[in-house]
Parts: sequence; C-alpha cells; structure tokens
Amino acid sequence: MTYRHITSLRDGYVERLTLNRPEVRNALNDELIAELEHWANRVRGDRAVRVAVLAGAGSCFCAGADLAWMAKTVTYTQDQNIADAEALTRMFGALDSLPVPLIGRVQGAALGGGSGLAAVCDIVVAEQPAVFGFTEVKLGIIPAVISPFILAKIGRSAARELFLTGMRFSAAHAREIALIHRVVPSDALDDAVESYVAEVTTGGPEAVRAAKSLIREVSESPADQIAGLTAGAIATRCVSPEGQEGLRAFLEKRKPAWS
Ligand code: COA
Repeated sequence: MTYRHITSLRDGYVERLTLNRPEVRNALNDELIAELEHWANRVRGDRAVRVAVLAGAGSCFCAGADLAWMAKTVTYTQDQNIADAEALTRMFGALDSLPVPLIGRVQGAALGGGSGLAAVCDIVVAEQPAVFGFTEVKLGIIPAVISPFILAKIGRSAARELFLTGMRFSAAHAREIALIHRVVPSDALDDAVESYVAEVTTGGPEAVRAAKSLIREVSESPADQIAGLTAGAIATRCVSPEGQEGLRAFLEKRKPAWS
C-alpha cells in the first residue's frame, strides 16, 4: 500500500510512524484509518522492529475523527456506516495489539479518536500545553468505537466524568487518570520520547514482547487460569536463550548481548 496520510520511517530497530494531515490536524478519515491498520499489520510481522513511535505532524497530535467525512456519512446506508465503524475498530485493535511497545508523542491536542490513539499506546508522553478530550457528546455523537480501549486505560469513574461532559482536559489531568505517562515542557518532548525508546531497547527484545503480551493475557484470562499462565510464562522465559543471557550477564557483571 502506498501511504498518503501517514509517513513511516525505519530507524534501526525503531519504527517511526507519523500522522500526516496537518492541515486538518491529522483528523482520521477512511483512508488514514486504512493506512494505520495496514502499517500495524506490517509491523506485526516484522521481527526486526523492537519499538514504534506514533507522532502527529504539525501543531496537533490528532483532532479525532474527520468531521467533514463524518458529516457525509448521513448519505450512507446503515450497513456502510457499520462497515466504517468496523474498520475503525480493526485499526484501533491492530495498534492496541501491536507486539512491540508503541510510544505516543502528543503535542497540541488529542481529541476524540486522538485520545483513543493515546489510549492504545503503551507509553505516552505529552507536552504541558496539550489538551485531551472525549468531546463527542458536544457534537451530538458518542465515543463508541474507542470506548473499550479508553475504559481499559482510565476505568469507569474517569470515563463517566469525561464521556458525559465532553470537557477538554489538561495533560496533567490525562496523567492523573493514567491516559498518559509523562508531561514535559514542549521543548523536552522529543528527548522524553527518545529516553523511553532507549529504555525499552535495553531490555531483551523477546522479553519486552513477552512482557507486553503478558499484560494482555493476564488482564483477559479467567481468574482460575492466571496462575498457570504466569508460571508457564516465567518458566519459558528463564530457560530461553535470551533469559539465560540476561541472567548470566548480570552474574558476570557485563551487559547482555541480545541477538
Ligand atoms: N475533522 C476535520 N477537520 C478538522 C478537525 C476534525 N476533527 N479538526 C480540525 N479540523 C480542521 C478545521 O476545520 C480547520 O480547517 P480550515 O483550515 O479549512 O478551516 C483546520 O483543521 C484547522 O483547525 P483549527 O480549529 O483552525 O486549528 P487549531 O489549531 O486552532 O485547533 C483543534 C485545533 C484540534 C483544537 C480544533 O481544530 C478542534 O477542536 N477540532 C475539533 C476536534 C474534535 O472535536 N474532535 C472530536 C472528533 S469526534
């Protein structure tokens, strides 16, 4: 697929993805949504990637759904509108389940689906002036497709306040509700993102992937299966070549040599 609305750049083992519709504040239309899903599925199959960074070109991270595109959907059939919503779900799901850490870099605004994108990042850094919001009710709509991803991140209490009011909120508040993880001055945003990239890549590449999948499996498994799952997971990692290298490197007081 040729990308029109995103750019993707491979930088060593870092995959750098940028939403690139700055003239409409990176609003999500059907083409951008399809490109994001395609990108996520490509990265999923690439074992050389160890971490991905999601950013937005221009003054804003993402203004959410493209409202001009949404307004047009009044002429679509119910089936067409459902197909669009399903495509949006697939895109958020593909990003959410990316096997490597996804680090979000938020400047300006992350509204509606833009806050949804923040929710499917594993780690999010925002500049202090950034604003967030689930503003859908202000437009007479609701944050339906993004709701499972948001609820998994911020829980029901924060969602009740923010979905029902549609109010915009600060980066500091986004951090309080655990939608994001660090708030930094604007001129420190790139350094903060890169420090997370560097931190993540000091870990064993397979261990980092396994840690990410552990979070999902433990969260989604029935209670009576969790002990077996976690015992199996650590037992597998301990005897893996990477686990053995990491443990031996510590005992031999050297840096591990990850393959
Ligand atoms: N969909 C489509 N176009 C959008 C958009 C969106 N979600 N958000 C912004 N744009 C467009 C504007 O219509 C404007 O187009 P124009 O230049 O043709 O007039 C352009 O992007 C710039 O928007 P503007 O509001 O002037 O930029 P800003 O930098 O002052 O503010 C935002 C940026 C994101 C804070 C503001 O545009 C905004 O609040 N957008 C709506 C976000 C929203 O409610 N999203 C929820 C969707 S469910």
